[in-house]
Amino acid sequence: MDGFSAKVLAWYRHHGRHDLPWQVADPYARWLAEVMLQQTTVTAARPYYERFMRRFPSVQALAHASLDDVLALWSGLGYYARARNLHAAARLLVDRHAGVFPRTADEWAALPGIGPSTAAAIVAFAFNIPAAILDANVRRVLSRYHGVRGRDAPTERLLWSYARTHTPTRHVAAYTQAIMDLGALVCRKTPDCPTCPLADGCAFDGAETPARRPPKPERAVYMAIITAPDQGILLVRRPPRGIWGGLWSLPESAALAALPATIQALGFEGALGDPAPPVWHVFTHFRLSITPVRVLRSARLAAVAEGCDAMWYKGALPGPGMPAPVRRLVNQFLEAS
Ligand code: ADE
Repeated sequence: MDGFSAKVLAWYRHHGRHDLPWQVADPYARWLAEVMLQQTTVTAARPYYERFMRRFPSVQALAHASLDDVLALWSGLGYYARARNLHAAARLLVDRHAGVFPRTADEWAALPGIGPSTAAAIVAFAFNIPAAILDANVRRVLSRYHGVRGRDAPTERLLWSYARTHTPTRHVAAYTQAIMDLGALVCRKTPDCPTCPLADGCAFDGAETPARRPPKPERAVYMAIITAPDQGILLVRRPPRGIWGGLWSLPESAALAALPATIQALGFEGALGDPAPPVWHVFTHFRLSITPVRVLRSARLAAVAEGCDAMWYKGALPGPGMPAPVRRLVNQFLEAS
């Protein structure tokens, strides 16, 4: 064990996190947690993790669930490809591997939705098998400690080699949690260097120039609110790929003028009300404005388009899997009507 990992482990004993609900020996739990934590904070992921584990306590339970039920439990967490991949991987594990979990990072990384760092974290946590991780938190710690800048391929290879060098052969599960926690709790964007166990020997001089992020491009979408007495609000299922793939949402178009055609394609017609003020939703690469538009005196035409996945929703809980901003809009209109 090098000095680096010894210091990180000693710090972890008193200052790290030891009571997270996924700190259990079950590889399924560790896998689920690492996928949830890929783009979500511990605080936000925790209630989702607990609900998910209660509903789908094993890989078999997950594999036998419908994608709709899985997406419904993921609703609000975002990055829904994670849920689709998790479900696909559970089916692969159960159908092709008799539900037996792999014990190498390479095998985990061959499953959908699991990158090299997540794969390594799973085997380190679940089996205490040495494997180096390099997630965003660890990347920040190692870049600062070793004075490495840049995001190009050679920098990436260098950081991976540091990650492997520091990963001990013993106590790997504890070390992996420790280095994650150090990144999350001490070596934050604004670091707390006086409390850092690695301050001696760290190359960071506080002079890191924070990258000024260019403003995100904006996209607009118009969503139709079609209601029917005693039926509720009309939802449509989104295509399986792309943003909010497979989730239930409102009928939409990119331009207000195109909304009547969207509505007609679903077998409805009616006059459009005035657009309501937009709500904003921020994605990784753009900001989306969602403008709800009521369809007044909506009537179902005789012919309903074939093959469109549509349903009426009255607000019953838990409800189908909907993107969080759409769920808020739908509830708002249901309450108002
Ligand atoms: N972020 C990613 N994995 C994590 C874990 N196991 N505990 C806390 N934060 C994390």
